[in-house]
Amino acid sequence: MAGSHLIICLFLSFLSRVYSSDVLCEKGFCSEFIHKHGCSPPVPHCSYNNATHNGLWLPSPTICNCCPFCLEFLREDEHCSLGGPGAGTTVGRCGDGLTCVADPIDGYSYCKKMSSKCHTAQTNFDTRRTRGEMGSLEFRPHCDAKGKYAPFDCVLTQTCFCQSEEGERLFGEVVYRGTLTTQSMHCGCSRLHQRIMKRIQPGLAFPVFAPRCTSDGNFFPVQCIGRKCYCVDRVTGHIVNANRPGYTLDLRKYPITDLACYDPALDNFPHLNEGSPPYNFTAPCFEEQRLKVEMIQQSKEDGFNVDFFNSFGECMPDGTYGHVVMKRDRSKICADETGRQIAKYSAAPNTPEYESMNCKCAYTSHVMGSTSERPVCCKNGNFRRIQCRRGFCRCVDEDGRQQGREAADVTSLSCFTTNWRTC
Ligand SMILES: *[C@@H]1O[C@H](CO)[C@@H](O)[C@H](O)[C@H]1NC(C)=O
Ligand SMILES: *[C@@H]1O[C@H](CO)[C@@H](O)[C@H](O)[C@H]1NC(C)=O
Repeated sequence: MAGSHLIICLFLSFLSRVYSSDVLCEKGFCSEFIHKHGCSPPVPHCSYNNATHNGLWLPSPTICNCCPFCLEFLREDEHCSLGGPGAGTTVGRCGDGLTCVADPIDGYSYCKKMSSKCHTAQTNFDTRRTRGEMGSLEFRPHCDAKGKYAPFDCVLTQTCFCQSEEGERLFGEVVYRGTLTTQSMHCGCSRLHQRIMKRIQPGLAFPVFAPRCTSDGNFFPVQCIGRKCYCVDRVTGHIVNANRPGYTLDLRKYPITDLACYDPALDNFPHLNEGSPPYNFTAPCFEEQRLKVEMIQQSKEDGFNVDFFNSFGECMPDGTYGHVVMKRDRSKICADETGRQIAKYSAAPNTPEYESMNCKCAYTSHVMGSTSERPVCCKNGNFRRIQCRRGFCRCVDEDGRQQGREAADVTSLSCFTTNWRTC
């Protein structure tokens, strides 16, 4: 009953606050209450708040919330309460990523790791580390409080990129800068975009409205619905300052540059927004989709039943076509966020390099700019399976993540092939 007991107490103290705040919980009540009844000291976890001892300050389950109260977060394998008759009033809950599980043998309950794909990946990582099979640039999977994958994954010394809760790589990549990356990369826009495309888009005739993101997976500070544009928070995507002048704008009359939060440095296609009213705020792929929709609607009005664009082709969240771009002659190139070719990466049709082309290495190398430790890419812009650094070579996956231990002798690597230098 621990949980419900706590909730009832909190609720009662809430009620007493609402109905008699003037009478009961007025200034000075608590000092008198504490003087008369005293407070039981809170558990010290909230004051330590380190890796092993932590908790959450909450309103105390006492009248007027007079006493300090710390809800302790229990650690893995610590005793917890599932609630139920006679369970007493132990207060505390299993820490992040843990859940209270009854042990069928001794009948008690313990905090156990929630079972999830991310936790399993962590366990595998730890096992391999104890066996000494770990490479120096391998990254322990980072899980969130619910046991899902954290919003991004990193390749040490290279870049970090957004990932879904299931650990699938998503749009959004920045240079790896240690904890600075952790602070600036949230991937909220990238993740929302993915959810919309996965859950809403399928089965719809026309492309659905999805937020516009910047290349790091955050929200573009400007979002438009029709021709009405708003300023949004780059992390949450929530509209900000809706009532302040300059923070909303009507494109029928004003260009997007008049909006207080418009940042030209983040816009890869400013020329599409210029001209005379009505103005636009768009990107090449969004624009092409809009033209297709218009054409279809027009031909319907004209009495045709057109369905010749059975596929719209998905736009990237930043309004581009993605990094692998097909040219008119049907060859493919790797393109940056403005659509320009990156270095000389390309592939000709009907070759294996063409089919497997993903340009992930080309783009990573482009994002890293002029730094010296850029990865080596295949001619089609994919990661070369073997990357070498400071006298050691290692196998990497298609996202450039190290797999297994590095070695000074290339031939001893599991992914070694005689043509490893040229992919
Ligand atoms: C957290 O603080 C407590 C109390 O000071 C201490 O016993 C414990 O070892 C600390 N844990 C870590 C990981 O520093
Ligand atoms: C904006 O788009 C409309 C079509 O919706 C077009 O007619 C107009 O010329 C565009 N405006 C500019 C300034 O390019």
